[in-house]
Amino acid sequence: MRITLGVTGGVAAYKAAELVRRLQQDGFSVQVVMTRGAREFVTPLTFAALSGQKVITDLFGDSSGGEANLESAIEHIAVAQRTDLLVVAPATADIIAKLARGIADDFLTTLYLASTAPVVVAPAMNVNMWNHEATQENVKMLRARGVKIVDPDEGYLACGMTGAGRLAGQEAILAAVREALHAQRDLEGETILVTAGPTCEDLDPVRYLTNRSSGKMGYAVAEAAAQRGAKVFLVSGPTNLETPAGVERIDVRTADEMRRAVVQRFEQCSIAILAAAVADYRPAERRAEKIKKGNGPLTISLEPTADILAEVARNKGQKLVAGFAAETGHVAENARKKLSAKNADLIVANDVTAEGAGFDQDTNVVTLFSRDGRDLALPKLNKSEVAQRILDEVLRLRSVLHGTSAAKRSAV
Ligand code: PMT
Repeated sequence: MRITLGVTGGVAAYKAAELVRRLQQDGFSVQVVMTRGAREFVTPLTFAALSGQKVITDLFGDSSGGEANLESAIEHIAVAQRTDLLVVAPATADIIAKLARGIADDFLTTLYLASTAPVVVAPAMNVNMWNHEATQENVKMLRARGVKIVDPDEGYLACGMTGAGRLAGQEAILAAVREALHAQRDLEGETILVTAGPTCEDLDPVRYLTNRSSGKMGYAVAEAAAQRGAKVFLVSGPTNLETPAGVERIDVRTADEMRRAVVQRFEQCSIAILAAAVADYRPAERRAEKIKKGNGPLTISLEPTADILAEVARNKGQKLVAGFAAETGHVAENARKKLSAKNADLIVANDVTAEGAGFDQDTNVVTLFSRDGRDLALPKLNKSEVAQRILDEVLRLRSVLHGTSAAKRSAV
């Protein structure tokens, strides 16, 4: 995938150098375009050395006052056509205004008009410039046109003021890049089964055994899969969450109901991702009447539930099956054990005691353990971003295991 990175004139221009490196680490080829303002802060040589490609600085090639070069101009438009994603970081108030109004007076602004690729813009400027009605109106126009704006962070600014205007962090920009690229619907033709939330195992008509799963992780996976074009079945334990757009939700309460709903739909699916926190045990007996309070201790006998992940993975054939592992210690060891014991292709392991990870959080910290031996440790990310990375790994793994090109398959 080819990313064109537009760097414009602000103090944060130096941060774009690190962004080039991070994008390359993620496997992107990066073509840097610098505006005149950007060259006041960083030299093109820095970006050429990092990207391994000539940096584009002018519409007509040589900027040293030589003759305009038509060949160069045409070649540059070819760059626009080869671009899979245009990222502008840092973006000044000036470039945002030009992009919003369609002014094309240098290479970057011309490229914006000439390219049909998705666009990500990460603004960085003085807090008053950012808050100014003119800038906000321009940002609104770009958003309405489908441009992904990575909101600036708040903090101390180079101008000495404090407020919103700092270039967003690298992770936020990278997340927006991935999100913009995923909007390309690479899961079209797939049918994906996702489980989410807790199960509730009744003891009597008023009491039950459950856990702290909110469903956020599984719902994020279902939402991401639907956004990327898949048909999605979401088998959900009780949650307070809204059904993501384009997802068919099947509500269940107990592990047994979840098992039945999963097994029934698994046949139609090419991929299953089981994120639900299913009870491992349920009361051996469900009392028809409320258990009365006594004087002594109460012993409740529990029996194991069926292991849904192990059952579907046993019969998976060429389907790809991913499970989760909620761990409180020895994460890698336990996750690898689950991978092989349950015959899964991928285990998404989270240490549910870690800060910002696990149950009822908006973020998660996971490591993806794949059947081909790859361990991919991710930093703390929003669950929606974790979901995207899981889907990326599922597609990569399937093509390694079964030689299937990313997506474009119906149920196998
Ligand atoms: O819902 P959130 O609040 O967003 O929290 C997210 C989460 C912590 C629930 C999620 O990230 C997570 O870890 N889900 C798996 C929870 C769990 O039950 O882990 P486990 O290690 O006990 O189970 C391993 C795997 O087997 C899981 O894929 C589970 O769905 C599956 N399983 C477990 C028991 C069972 N009877 N049948 C199963 O299929």
